[in-house]
Amino acid sequence: MTKEEARQRIAALSDELEQHNYNYYILAKPTISDYEFDMKLEELARLEKEFPEFLSPTSPTQRVGGGITKEFQSVKHRYPMLSLANSYSREEIADFISRIKKTIEEDVEFCCELKFDGLSISLQYENGTLVRAVTRGDGTQGDDVTTNVKTIHSVPLKLHGDYPEFFEMRGEIVMPFESFNRLNEARAEAGDDLFANPRNAAAGTLKLQDSKEVARRRLDNYCYYMMMDGLEDRYQTHYQSLQAARKWGFNISNFMALCKTIDEIFEFIDYWDEARHQLPFAIDGIVLKVNSYAQQQALGFTAKSPKWAIAYKFKAEEVETELQSVDFQVGRHGTITPVANLAPVQLAGTTVKRATLNNEDFIRQFDLHYGDTVTVVKGGEIIPKIIGVNFDKRQAGAQPVTFTKVCPVCGTELVKNKDEAAWYCPNAQSCPPQVKGRIEHFISRKAMNIESLGEGKVEFLYDAGLIKDVADLYSLTFSKLYGLSNDKVSFKEKTAKNIIDALEKSKSVPFERVLFALGIRNVGEVVAKTIVAEYHDIDSIIRASVEELSAINTVGEVIALSVKAFFENPVNLDIVQRLRAAGLQFAKAETPKSDKEQVLAGKSFVVSGVFAHYSRDGIKETIKAYGGKNVGSISGKTDYVLAGDKMGPEKRKKAESLGIPIITEEEFDAMIGMKREKEETGLLF
Ligand code: IVH
Repeated sequence: MTKEEARQRIAALSDELEQHNYNYYILAKPTISDYEFDMKLEELARLEKEFPEFLSPTSPTQRVGGGITKEFQSVKHRYPMLSLANSYSREEIADFISRIKKTIEEDVEFCCELKFDGLSISLQYENGTLVRAVTRGDGTQGDDVTTNVKTIHSVPLKLHGDYPEFFEMRGEIVMPFESFNRLNEARAEAGDDLFANPRNAAAGTLKLQDSKEVARRRLDNYCYYMMMDGLEDRYQTHYQSLQAARKWGFNISNFMALCKTIDEIFEFIDYWDEARHQLPFAIDGIVLKVNSYAQQQALGFTAKSPKWAIAYKFKAEEVETELQSVDFQVGRHGTITPVANLAPVQLAGTTVKRATLNNEDFIRQFDLHYGDTVTVVKGGEIIPKIIGVNFDKRQAGAQPVTFTKVCPVCGTELVKNKDEAAWYCPNAQSCPPQVKGRIEHFISRKAMNIESLGEGKVEFLYDAGLIKDVADLYSLTFSKLYGLSNDKVSFKEKTAKNIIDALEKSKSVPFERVLFALGIRNVGEVVAKTIVAEYHDIDSIIRASVEELSAINTVGEVIALSVKAFFENPVNLDIVQRLRAAGLQFAKAETPKSDKEQVLAGKSFVVSGVFAHYSRDGIKETIKAYGGKNVGSISGKTDYVLAGDKMGPEKRKKAESLGIPIITEEEFDAMIGMKREKEETGLLF
């Protein structure tokens, strides 16, 4: 095949595949089989590999992912991403309409739309090509997640038709229930924390570094708003702009209605309050927008939201059921959580059997009695919540729910810290659920990542007396494991080998994750990282005083006290000693820095204002990474003031009076040798 032939074939295949993608994911009317599609995609991938000069960033092959994003760049929005005012009743909608009628004399038409429950995204197009996808962030600046968004099949990478040269589409990224359930099932199997709802799962997915994993999770996108300069010269109404966008390839919901009266609006709302349960993705309300752009302009904005739009939020579904009994669960830190067992009942698409009761105060607050009829809702959490008791239905002689005084597993008398609502089992060292919980935490993916072990097997090994704490894991051998089994788990040859391999591999897990894996109360992933950034090895952490630890930015006294308490306990010190002997990392790996990387050595910076390509923390990290130092306030010793947008006038005055150079973000980039691609140098348009 000649170069020219390859170029033509790549172009033809790309167009054809993008059309099939559109037919499948947007029209839901595929015209070829999955197999044929895959064959064509494979051919395209093969050709692109052979002729990389013809690989386009918008090629359909990019949708399978592969790109890794180490750090998401923070970028400023050209148009701020506002939110919507919320409303919950017919009265509030009536007020909204009458407020509008005060400004607009003619008839007002409202575009009623689904309120997708996901996360908003800004999709920027240049000459019909997706150039950038940015999350909402704080509304002023968000993260560039283009590589991940490209894997979403309903986001067009290339448009067709009479699209404008530069514009932005706003929409929502959602995780359909099917993808969500599949993901959570896999996570449950792997012993990972479950996502509470599709919105959290979508948010977590969009921030993954590995776009291949994003592609696997199958997100979806719906667009609901177009933005560009001169938009209202092109279209008279919002509805028209969305119909045009649909023609260019965007996924625009078919479920929209133009309504003129509050009755029509409520017909739409009431219909979807019911029908939403049949949708393949979550919606949490309805959005009403004044349809005419001229009227929208006349109405304008408040600081936070447009005055021409409002969200009507559906009430969380609730249901009554019977409180049958209460279990007391013991967490890995010994916290006792009461959980209600309920008569099984259908709620928002799933059967509910249990609800959390939080703590003793919660039980008291509702004066719960066994056999009570309680109202249950699904909040943002996985496990539903009780929000009320129907006292009229309480049976005579019903017994109040009392909080256990002893640990339900090991029988130790419970204790309570003052100012805290929770009761604890103090038998941390030998209360089985606490020990097992700590081991499960230790092996979890974000900690030591010994996934091949899993919850069931930990339970087995603990019950069999083979492991009593996390350090015992490293005395396991293939011959100790191989052949063990009971009715739930069995250690076949491959399983045993995988576990031993994973244990071996865990010896190179970096120190910050080892610190997290130890399971110190209040020390999550981020805190562990922060501590390790200041104290580079375990001995310095053990030696550090509460005052010193609390002085670390974002650590604070509560965390410092629990770190101190952990390392004052000889049992924990012994575990650390044995883990150290097993070869785990207990010091931060030193990364040798080249000369180039140390270009800012000895220079001190004061950072002020907002930056286009960095978050505030991001730019400070970059200064550190290149050997520089961040200082809080300007003094005669400051070398540079790094000024972003909206730098405070006082700071500027002070820097000028002391003759300290004020540099821009671009000048800073030049200092560290950072070159940006053309589209990254500024904002589009
Ligand atoms: S319009 C300037 N339309 O709801 C107005 N937003 O609470 C731009 N949302 O941040 C938003 N469905 O993430 C609009 N059909 C819809 C929507 C929608 C969901 C989200 C969006 C927004 C949030 C506001």
